[in-house]
Amino acid sequence: MNMLYAIPGAEAPAAPEPAQAARAAPRTVGEVLAHSQVEPVLAELDADLVGLQPVKQRIRDIAALLVIDWLRMGHGLQAQTPSLHMSFTGNPGTGKTTVALRMATILHRLGYVRKGHLVAVTRDDLVGQYIGHTAPKTREVLKKAMGGVLFIDEAYYLYKPENERDYGGEAIEILLQVMENQRDDLVVILAGYKDRMDTFFQSNPGLSSRVAHHIDFPDYAHGELLAIGDRMLGGMNYRFAPGAREVFGDYLDRRLQQPHFANARSVRNALDRIRLRQASRLFADRDRPLDVTDLTTLTAEDIRASRVFGTAPPT
Ligand SMILES: Nc1ncnc2c1ncn2[C@@H]1O[C@H](COP(=O)(O)OP(=O)(O)OP(=O)(O)O)[C@@H](O)[C@H]1O
Ligand SMILES: [Mg+2]
Repeated sequence: MNMLYAIPGAEAPAAPEPAQAARAAPRTVGEVLAHSQVEPVLAELDADLVGLQPVKQRIRDIAALLVIDWLRMGHGLQAQTPSLHMSFTGNPGTGKTTVALRMATILHRLGYVRKGHLVAVTRDDLVGQYIGHTAPKTREVLKKAMGGVLFIDEAYYLYKPENERDYGGEAIEILLQVMENQRDDLVVILAGYKDRMDTFFQSNPGLSSRVAHHIDFPDYAHGELLAIGDRMLGGMNYRFAPGAREVFGDYLDRRLQQPHFANARSVRNALDRIRLRQASRLFADRDRPLDVTDLTTLTAEDIRASRVFGTAPPT
């Protein structure tokens, strides 16, 4: 699987360089916040993402550290670049990639990284299949990520102790060097399942000691999943018909019992299938004029037709 993609931080207004900030010498936290325009990003993070309180708090703490460093610099105090490499652990669909993107913007606005883009990769983007292929591959990815965030999904696949000839170790060595020497312009986020990540860090103490922030993404509770569904629907200009939200709650109850439940990702997939059924329902009648209500409303029947209710063939 190749999931290398780069999301430009272009929409973010240019954050002032820390050096400039020192010249402007803001003296209050408020001045730094206003200057860096980081507050709207933190507010959006709070507003857009349901739950995740501990994650949001950790991000605020990191922002606070950078703001205070900024003020310290204004006084000519020693402000050593803090190490901000992180690990994001949690089950699929708990918001890790989404939060990593926001983190990149926050780090950019606070002047920590130059560009604030996110490069998301997996093992295959870093590790080659033949001798001599890994180092250039890893360096190429690092080059792309420089000035932003390198997000390594399922990072534990880099380390395959059972396979002597595996080149993953080579990629890890290069990562370690760059994480140490270029940490003022690159933040590495290692992501994956909690238990596998713990084992991975135990086997790679060098990596573990360079990760300053371990952030855990818990599974969402039922009510949070429903609230996430509401946000997603609103964002797509759909709404539940009266009574349909309760049926969706029932759907989630049942879906949660099934294998491969992937939190918010499963909510999104379920809504996509419900939209398909709504479209098929509307499509069936060619002569009826469809108004905005028809086009935006998902009914209880659209939801009940799912296979989790055990009444219909799989969809
Ligand atoms: N707390 C939340 N509030 C609203 N939407 C959310 C929340 N968490 C995740 N989502 C949405 O759910 C989807 C999946 O999230 P995301 O891709 O960030 O999860 P992930 O942890 O990276 O999952 P995976 O391990 O499968 O890559 C995205 O569309 C995201 O916008
Ligand atoms: Mg992800």
